[in-house]
Amino acid sequence: MIELEDLTVRYDGFTAVADVDLRIDRGEFVTVVGPSGCGKTTALRAIAGLQEPTSGRVRIDDRPPSRARERGDVGFVFQRHTLLPWKTALENVAFLRRMAGKPPDREGAGALLRSLGLEGFEDARPSALSGGMRQRVAIARAIHLGADVLLMDEPFGELDEITRDELGVELRSLWRRERKTIVFVTHSVPEAVFLGDRCVVMGDDPGRIEATFDVNLPEPRDTEVFGSRAFQRRVAAVRRTLHDGYEREVP
Ligand SMILES: Nc1ncnc2c1ncn2[C@@H]1O[C@H](COP(=O)(O)OP(=O)(O)OP(=O)(O)O)[C@@H](O)[C@H]1O
Ligand SMILES: [Mg+2]
Repeated sequence: MIELEDLTVRYDGFTAVADVDLRIDRGEFVTVVGPSGCGKTTALRAIAGLQEPTSGRVRIDDRPPSRARERGDVGFVFQRHTLLPWKTALENVAFLRRMAGKPPDREGAGALLRSLGLEGFEDARPSALSGGMRQRVAIARAIHLGADVLLMDEPFGELDEITRDELGVELRSLWRRERKTIVFVTHSVPEAVFLGDRCVVMGDDPGRIEATFDVNLPEPRDTEVFGSRAFQRRVAAVRRTLHDGYEREVP
């Protein structure tokens, strides 16, 4: 379980995140959406133990996040892929797990790449892959680390809409199989609603939680969901909250 208690982060007197309280259960898929600069990355970095809170605290399974990270319990996917250019897709996937001192699992790494649609590209280097393929490798790498918690900061931010939708469907079905705890930050309201069990809407100035929505859409979620009225109603509710900051419930 991830717990944020009164999390506040200030940079030189500027309050980036103010008094954020949030509990995320084990195996929950939580999305965080909010305007640029509202403190999403700052909050995610605090969860990862990469940013010390100014006040309040973060716990992952009752441990300080830096401790959880050292144990390889937390995986990341960033907006820009951070693959090693001289290693193949398969080697990139295996690398983090090796660094965390976990037993190698070549079979598992290959199976993950295949499940993300990269069959036949195991031996390709990042320069020979498209942006979407590289992000798939980065996702496979984070999952292969074997961490229970995955923190994703706009991992599809630079991708075209078609690839985004496809990767969203794949990520959601992967989550259904693996039941990781996922915190997924995005600018995209439809993406936040499509992916999450719960969608946290942040407001800015100072960065805070404006509202939380239970998404509750039928499973499995595929691209058909985008056309459904339930989906569109939820997207509209999140948008209203973002725009005027007081809508509190899914209609
Ligand atoms: N290292 C830093 N020093 C000073 N101010 C910072 C630092 N990092 C972020 N900030 C400020 O804190 C605020 C929140 O930044 P953060 O990166 O968390 O926003 P964000 O919600 O992730 O934005 P985006 O959606 O554009 O990625 C911004 O106003 C930013 O300028
Ligand atoms: Mg950010």
